[in-house]
Amino acid sequence: MSRSGDAVGVGLIGFGTIGTGVVKVLQRNAAVIEQRLGFPLNLVRIADLDTERDRGVDLSGIRFDDDSDGLIADPHVQIVVELIGGSDVARRLIQSAIDAGKHVVTANKALLALHGKEIFDAAARRGVDIAFEASVGGGIPILRSLREGLAANRILSIHGIMNGTTNYMLTEMERTGEPFEVVIERARDLGYAEADPSFDVDGIDAAHKLTLLATMAFGAEFTFKEIPIEGIRCLAPVDFEAAREFGYRIKLLGIAKARAGGDGAEGRIEVRVHPTLIPATSLLASVDGAMNAIAVTGDAVGPTLYYGAGAGELPTASAVVADLMEIAREIRRGSAGRVAPLSYMPHRIQPKSLVPLGELVGCYYLRFTAVDRPGVLAQITSALGDHEIGIESVIQKGRGAAAESVPVIVKTHPARELAVRGALEIIDRLPDVTAPTCLIRIEEGL
Ligand code: HSE
Repeated sequence: MSRSGDAVGVGLIGFGTIGTGVVKVLQRNAAVIEQRLGFPLNLVRIADLDTERDRGVDLSGIRFDDDSDGLIADPHVQIVVELIGGSDVARRLIQSAIDAGKHVVTANKALLALHGKEIFDAAARRGVDIAFEASVGGGIPILRSLREGLAANRILSIHGIMNGTTNYMLTEMERTGEPFEVVIERARDLGYAEADPSFDVDGIDAAHKLTLLATMAFGAEFTFKEIPIEGIRCLAPVDFEAAREFGYRIKLLGIAKARAGGDGAEGRIEVRVHPTLIPATSLLASVDGAMNAIAVTGDAVGPTLYYGAGAGELPTASAVVADLMEIAREIRRGSAGRVAPLSYMPHRIQPKSLVPLGELVGCYYLRFTAVDRPGVLAQITSALGDHEIGIESVIQKGRGAAAESVPVIVKTHPARELAVRGALEIIDRLPDVTAPTCLIRIEEGL
């Protein structure tokens, strides 16, 4: 790697999969990076607790030890890359890099979703940049698109498949008809799911990413804890079959929308993560396997779609190195520390209330589990009718033996979610309804 005098010095903390990818991209693409920047990026130091493992990359000329504090303090390091993940140690290291006047690149969506305000405020006070493209959508340049390519728009909505693990699982459940418990094992075998898959399958990872996207889209300050989150554990093979018959596919979506006046301080926003029925003909519906895709609609540009690998060594490293290049350019121009990382000037990011789920109006997919006995469907439809919920279609799957439960699936006409919940409270207490009803929201118009 070049060590020319005008190079910008980089220190990497965390030499795991993504860190190794960063070293590979910096080395294999050193020429094109220099041709684009006009000067080289110089990886000066790497710090990781595991200094023994061979990562299969050439480390000549790079100091490699376990001294992350020394790396941060090193005067040759101008930009610190944090790739250790987690909240505690990473938070301390980023804070100490900021205090030392170093610019920071991170892929740590959990940290930024939970403690972003403190970190961004500290960076603004110290006049350093913080870049985090790799934290959402892996290699997809979605944050840069929001901050730059779509900067002239009022953002109206975001619908994203932002978690590769769950998208792989939903694709497999639909393709094979196998249940969650079988497919999660295959996802583990393929390395798509962690031993404890909760962050992915319970929608938490997607909600971390959506927190960043919604903040950037709407200049909105809100806390991660306010986001309604539902994961994919409740889905059964019959849901995929019924969804197909209704003309939909099921995806775990992160959804953020501006309500009327949403660009002003008084506007409210919808921010939510849950399994969603989307029209089978929509572009998002065709996103299969571990891929990610994010649809953003702006008032001027209309609908746009960003697709690519949401995880993995080189795709994620692609985003990290792009951030390094952007900050290095700012350092050379003498304007580092003046980029608004969240797309709005910090003092323009205003608290906004989230629209409660009860206020949503839309069509609903409801899977009741009921004893197959004459009159049960009438009790269900009567409770829906009492709450002014119209039924568009009904499917009953299978024919139960005496006293056996079967799925009864209803697609409603547009209804208010509060009313739907009210009806389900009554229905789920009926003696012939033997399991809690599965509710999936339907998003049209994608
Ligand atoms: N577990 C994440 C996913 C990795 O499945 O998308 C990238 O954040």
